[in-house]
Amino acid sequence: MENTINWSELSFGYMKTDYNVRCYYRNGKWGELEVSSSEIINIHMSATCLHYGQEAFEGLKAFRGKDGKIRIFRLDENAKRMQSSAQGIKMAEFPIEKFEEAVLKAVKLNERFVPPYGSGASLYIRPLLIGLGALIGVKPADEYMFLVFVTPVGPYFKTGFKPAPVCIMRDYDRAAPHGTGTYKVGGNYAASLAAGQKAQEKGYAAVLYLDPKEKKYLDECGPANFFAIRDNTYITPASTSILPSITNKSLIQLAGDSGLKVERRPVPVEELSTFEEAAECGTAAVITPISRIDDLDEGKSYIYTKDGKPGVTCEKLYNELLAIQTGDAPDPYGWTTVL
Ligand SMILES: Cc1ncc(COP(=O)(O)O)c(C=O)c1O
Repeated sequence: MENTINWSELSFGYMKTDYNVRCYYRNGKWGELEVSSSEIINIHMSATCLHYGQEAFEGLKAFRGKDGKIRIFRLDENAKRMQSSAQGIKMAEFPIEKFEEAVLKAVKLNERFVPPYGSGASLYIRPLLIGLGALIGVKPADEYMFLVFVTPVGPYFKTGFKPAPVCIMRDYDRAAPHGTGTYKVGGNYAASLAAGQKAQEKGYAAVLYLDPKEKKYLDECGPANFFAIRDNTYITPASTSILPSITNKSLIQLAGDSGLKVERRPVPVEELSTFEEAAECGTAAVITPISRIDDLDEGKSYIYTKDGKPGVTCEKLYNELLAIQTGDAPDPYGWTTVL
């Protein structure tokens, strides 16, 4: 099977792998991890995940190093964020140690799908937590299922590490000011589909959302956080409606340790004209430099590339992050779990 996969041609899509790992919450407690080779889940038609959006997920990656070892990036942070999402929409929290055990098991069992070093591809890991209990009233379920599957992926944006344009459209929000934007729950993604599709039809890689309350500040880019570089400073929005990106958290650390100043604060839209570089960051996007931001309502454009090339700071951070993820560089922060 692995001989037939063209690793360097992989897109960010689903491919069937051998096994997934499951666990059920019943009678107030989590059961044992179960291994399944089926891609199908059999659930009650009245399950709360289907009607009331009791669904949270995570996204993390495993990388094959030059040394042949497999490294999983920031496993513990993803486990914690899934707990936060569970609290946010009143689901049973999946224990951190069980999360880590389930992910390690899923990667190990599908080891042959971890793309080779240097292919530009990685193994995407998708943990999922859903409400199973059958209810008709709007209430949290009493039964849950945790599941983790993996799939080998290439770059999220077709352009890879090449600057891509994004747009601002004030008619759409992905989350409410004090809603569920800080949780990784399905409803936020459903709310982003219409704007995302419209942006793509117009040739943009993503929508750069503004804060939903006042539309004065930058929020985040569809499925990724936003950061900019100016005067040797890494600037990224603080907001009550964005997902706390683990990639962004890592870049903040790397930027600070390599001598950049770091500002995490509300970022007014007017600052767009002052940035030297701008980028999206996330597990899937890694760092995707932004070539241009078109403000479609105000008819303004902000350009961040020269000759279509990524900015030097984005490129440096990208290389540093990837080197830690693949094991090319030491991991002084303890971010990677070696399988
Ligand atoms: C809405 C949103 N923002 C930001 C991110 C980036 O978060 P992370 O770096 O943890 O992948 C994601 C997921 O990748 C996301 O879905």
